[in-house]
Amino acid sequence: MRYGIIGSGMMGQEHIRNIALLDEARVVAVADPDDGMREAARALAGPDCKGFADPTGLLDTDLCDALVIATPNDTHFDLLKSALATDLPILIEKPLCTTLDECRTIETMVATRRAPVWVAMEYRYMPPVARLIDAVRAGTAGRVHMLTIREHRFPFLAKVGNWNRFEDRTGGTLVEKCCHFFDLMRLILDARPVRVFASGGMDVNFLDEDYDGRRPDILDNAFVLVDFDTGARAMLDLCMFAEGAYWQEEISATGDRARIDARVPGPARFSADGAERHSEIVISPRETKRPVRENVDVDETILSAGDHHGSTFYQHQRFQRMVADGGDPEVTVTDGLIAVAVGAAAEESVRSGQPVLLADFRSAGR
Ligand SMILES: NC(=O)c1ccc[n+]([C@@H]2O[C@H](COP(=O)([O-])OP(=O)(O)OC[C@H]3O[C@@H](n4cnc5c(N)ncnc54)[C@H](O)[C@@H]3O)[C@@H](O)[C@H]2O)c1
Repeated sequence: MRYGIIGSGMMGQEHIRNIALLDEARVVAVADPDDGMREAARALAGPDCKGFADPTGLLDTDLCDALVIATPNDTHFDLLKSALATDLPILIEKPLCTTLDECRTIETMVATRRAPVWVAMEYRYMPPVARLIDAVRAGTAGRVHMLTIREHRFPFLAKVGNWNRFEDRTGGTLVEKCCHFFDLMRLILDARPVRVFASGGMDVNFLDEDYDGRRPDILDNAFVLVDFDTGARAMLDLCMFAEGAYWQEEISATGDRARIDARVPGPARFSADGAERHSEIVISPRETKRPVRENVDVDETILSAGDHHGSTFYQHQRFQRMVADGGDPEVTVTDGLIAVAVGAAAEESVRSGQPVLLADFRSAGR
């Protein structure tokens, strides 16, 4: 399968390293206006990979069987509209777009398109998270009433053009970063979000940065409560100045029979000794009161191909299978839209100090 990558910065290059680990797959073209990123990506992909400064050039060729879009969030809308005019399967990085209106336009366009569009929600494919989802589905926890997701991690990294410092270019931290977690909440609880309340601030990171007179305006910590139509409730605890913690993500699903925890360390390259670490899953049944803890092993080659605990590889395996065998995307644009809607509602709640109702989703999807 021949891939074209649009946007070959940090995440685009993670995609290239992971596609290289798939059978029967290679990256044949990259498009990026930044010469340094484009050439670094071509060096990774191999000497035959074509480079384009303008994505239109890549979209006009017939070199590719599938597209991956990994550009700054505020470029997704226009690039997606151009890419949707091709008949190629598309893997679009999260967030689908930065605003709900843009997401709705894309959802309408995709509804009449034959080739699939898959929104890259890697966290679903982290092996310990996938184990937690399977255990919840199998009924191990009983009926899950409470879900907490803690992400305590390093600050946003430096990006080409500093796009991730600004709400208007990202959708805000709770859209940009946390759409992953709102997607996981829906998936784990199999329910529809109905109300969001959030408190957050920018208290530690980037306080002394200045970009041509403009100061960064993105949250670096927040609590977000989400109520679901089933009566289940979920909470996100986000801190982006906590890279000293051993676990980067800790997810706990608690039902009437047991609690299930998935714990994921941060990327090895940011750890004290640079070594890869195990993730783990813990099942704590009420009946026995004896928690069962298990390491989750992930191949080191897969771990070291990215910053997302192997998930980029596992997602690509499934995307490739969909393209080769036919079938529907596992993460649809409606999933991407709802994740943005919850994130945008959380940003709105931080601003207003009030809960935000999500009653007016036009999407039928859960
Ligand atoms: N799923 C995940 O876990 C995950 C993780 C990190 C980033 N992301 C997403 O990936 C996307 C890229 O993030 P990143 O960290 O790689 O940023 P980055 O700044 O490192 O890379 C973005 C690249 O896109 C290029 N670019 C800008 N405008 C373009 C255009 N119109 N056409 C082609 N290329 C263009 C830039 O020059 C840059 O090289 C963002 O949407 C981000 O939210 C997802």
